[in-house]
Amino acid sequence: MGITNGLTDYGDPEFAAYLRGAFASSMGYSEEALDRPIVGITWTASDYNNCHRLAPELIEAVKRGALMEGALPMVFPTISLGEGFLNPTSMYFRNMLAMETEEMIKGQPMDSVVMVGGCDKTIPGQTMAALSADVPTVVLPVGPMMTGSFEGERLGACTDCRRYWGQYRAGTMTRARLDLVKQRLASTAGTCPVMGTASTMASIVETLGLALPGSATIPAVAADRLRIAEESGRRAAQLARDGGPSPRTFVTERSVENALRMLLAISGSTNALIHLTAMARRAGVRVDLERFNELSDETPVIVSLKPTGDGYMEDFHRAGGVRAVLRELPDLFDLDAPTIGGGTLRDHIDPEDTYRDHAVVRPASDPVNPVGGLVTLFGSLAPTGAILKRAAATPELFERTGRAVVFTSPEDLAERIDDPDLDVTADDFLVMQNGGPIASGMPEAGYLPIPKKLLAQGVTDMVRLSDARMSGTAYGTVVLHISPETALGGPLSKVRTGDLIRLSVRERRLDLLVDEETLASREPEIRLLARKSAFAKLHRAEVMQAPDGCDFRSAVEDEADADAESAA
Ligand code: FES
Ligand code: MG
Repeated sequence: MGITNGLTDYGDPEFAAYLRGAFASSMGYSEEALDRPIVGITWTASDYNNCHRLAPELIEAVKRGALMEGALPMVFPTISLGEGFLNPTSMYFRNMLAMETEEMIKGQPMDSVVMVGGCDKTIPGQTMAALSADVPTVVLPVGPMMTGSFEGERLGACTDCRRYWGQYRAGTMTRARLDLVKQRLASTAGTCPVMGTASTMASIVETLGLALPGSATIPAVAADRLRIAEESGRRAAQLARDGGPSPRTFVTERSVENALRMLLAISGSTNALIHLTAMARRAGVRVDLERFNELSDETPVIVSLKPTGDGYMEDFHRAGGVRAVLRELPDLFDLDAPTIGGGTLRDHIDPEDTYRDHAVVRPASDPVNPVGGLVTLFGSLAPTGAILKRAAATPELFERTGRAVVFTSPEDLAERIDDPDLDVTADDFLVMQNGGPIASGMPEAGYLPIPKKLLAQGVTDMVRLSDARMSGTAYGTVVLHISPETALGGPLSKVRTGDLIRLSVRERRLDLLVDEETLASREPEIRLLARKSAFAKLHRAEVMQAPDGCDFRSAVEDEADADAESAA
């Protein structure tokens, strides 16, 4: 325990301990301080990460909590991923964050960890690291932003960014007004205030029991956020002293099923399915997409937040947050699952029910939607799966056959989508290739824009298909994560403009209506990310497909399975 944790086991161990003590003393710690168990705290603040702007303040509160409980807090830096500042895509760096965080936990002396983070890829990467290192951990989300307002309308990044940008593209909003809106879309520190990826992942870690009850939804700027940070520090100190429980205790078949149900009931981000799959896999639990569809058919959407509903995260918090969802659907969740907050999930549901807002968290008897927000599709175009956020899509487009209009890459799309000569109608299916994890790191390029000339005709949605991801804050009839991806030479790589594709959400099917012989005669259309670096090589060689969570093959314990799967 403490500062002599994990000393190297070669040479003279007593001398190694003495030497480490000398260096630790040089930071001004007393012997008494160095005698304590250590709570490691991740520093993920960065001038490139607006969402984590208040992380330093939270860290101070975590330290206070750890000290109050008799531990020594020690803060260490890990990579910071600010969604809007990364090229080619923050997703490309998630596994790097997981690798770095895991190694720093394993490499440095600490008895427990508080993971401070929140922007989209941070909680997934940190949790993956925590599950691999398996040192007792409390995940502390930084919390969501508050909303802004413009001409009486509430604004939240980045669902409303898309709405206003759409109006600007359609010519119904001036640039000057658009620029005014820009100042108010992301008006405080914290993560995006809609049910995007960050909020979904925070809700998922709370449901898994890895974050304190209530910690997913408290606004970033609230005093309660600092209090829960202090509490997280205290709890981590107790875990350090008691030697656990460690993260893998919490991530089991039943807690993962709880998390999948939470994802569905809140109508969360499509990206969360990839992240949760990767996290679960680190604990040896598999997420089965067929099972996910069964859960989706039994789990109503009861939370009404943007981008699929009306409210924002501050409303969800006032309505009781994650615990209110558990309260309203007691038969669907296993409330006996444990939480790092102590006891079970059930123990933390507010018996007084002081938080309630039925416009935001609906009762099970009056859901927003009787079935879950997401479904997976299979078929000849997606042999190992694809995903559709049906809650954010247009039901009139769910059963149809359309002519493919193909773009070979995100770049090709950007070049041609607004070409006035583009041969496209609202009934066509827009298809984009080479947006998958191997080809391009899987950017959020799957939200293909409606061609300008169709926008001008008043078209607001059409069927769009790709192997890329979409921002959790986006909406539309957008089929994503088609796997195997283009770069593996699968069916998606063989689609050509003019082919017919059949979508049936009812049957959960996505089929390419082209005969085998014709497909066999076509060359796959493969274009790989141009980036050259050691990590780019590692990424290309190691990254698995979306149904495997896009984790690195070597990171998962059952490597043999992973190999067999990607070869299939
Ligand atoms: Fe960080 Fe949206 S940009 S959560
Ligand atoms: Mg996002």
